[in-house]
Amino acid sequence: MGVIMNGTLEAIFHRRAVKVFEPVEISEEMREQILNAARHAPSSFNTQPYRFYWVETAKEKTAVARLCLGQKPAETASALLVAVADIGSLTATSQGQLEWMRSRSEFSEAKIRAYERTAKIGRILFMPGPFGIFAAIKWGMFWLLNLWKVMGMPPLSRQDLFKWATKSTSLACENLMIAAEALGINTCPMEGFDGRRLSKYLGLSARYHEIVMVIAIGKRLHSSVEPPQWRRPLEATVTIL
Ligand SMILES: Cc1cc2nc3c(=O)[nH]c(=O)nc-3n(C[C@H](O)[C@H](O)[C@H](O)COP(=O)(O)O)c2cc1C
Repeated sequence: MGVIMNGTLEAIFHRRAVKVFEPVEISEEMREQILNAARHAPSSFNTQPYRFYWVETAKEKTAVARLCLGQKPAETASALLVAVADIGSLTATSQGQLEWMRSRSEFSEAKIRAYERTAKIGRILFMPGPFGIFAAIKWGMFWLLNLWKVMGMPPLSRQDLFKWATKSTSLACENLMIAAEALGINTCPMEGFDGRRLSKYLGLSARYHEIVMVIAIGKRLHSSVEPPQWRRPLEATVTIL
């Protein structure tokens, strides 16, 4: 079979982590399109457990770039996006979805009630409780159940919950980077930042929020030369069964 190429694949294969940007303005429409692409990513139980901070004013950008350890992509970007895993958003999200379902004719009362029940169970399951007490009890229960039943383990501790939310947040980040590429601008994902200071700067709560990455966004400096892109060979990363 020949290699198929289309716009989406081109954006995926052309995307690079750009290290130096040149100053360009990102229009409001482009900003909205990029952010919309991010939130269209799939997420666990459609919970969309994240919040994005789009930093574009000069003063805020300078402060955030400094907390990204003064890295060149951060210092030269037209905008910085801070992607935050937000485990405090779950109740509001399920209530929002419930309201949305109630406002539409496609959903029967039975469907709405079923969603309401599932959301309630989810909330109980996903509640680590004070000092992780519920998490420990739930872990014991699930461990015993798993001895005789095939089942998945839900995120139980706060750490599990952040790991769980980070997966969905990262998928949204990738969508954002591919969308930016498709629109002719470039990005650099960064985990080189001072998480404690950046969280404080954004007014985040350690209980509910964890910064997953910061994405520098802008137009690649025309004169910059990208190093060749290396990837492990397919057979080193894939097992076909
Ligand atoms: C989670 C994550 C964190 C990263 N952190 C940084 C960073 O702090 N600074 C940086 O310059 N690049 C960072 N990168 C970019 C990688 O170095 C880059 O993606 C990798 O070298 C492959 O290059 P390519 O994306 O151009 O193919 C990060 C990438 C990822 C996915």
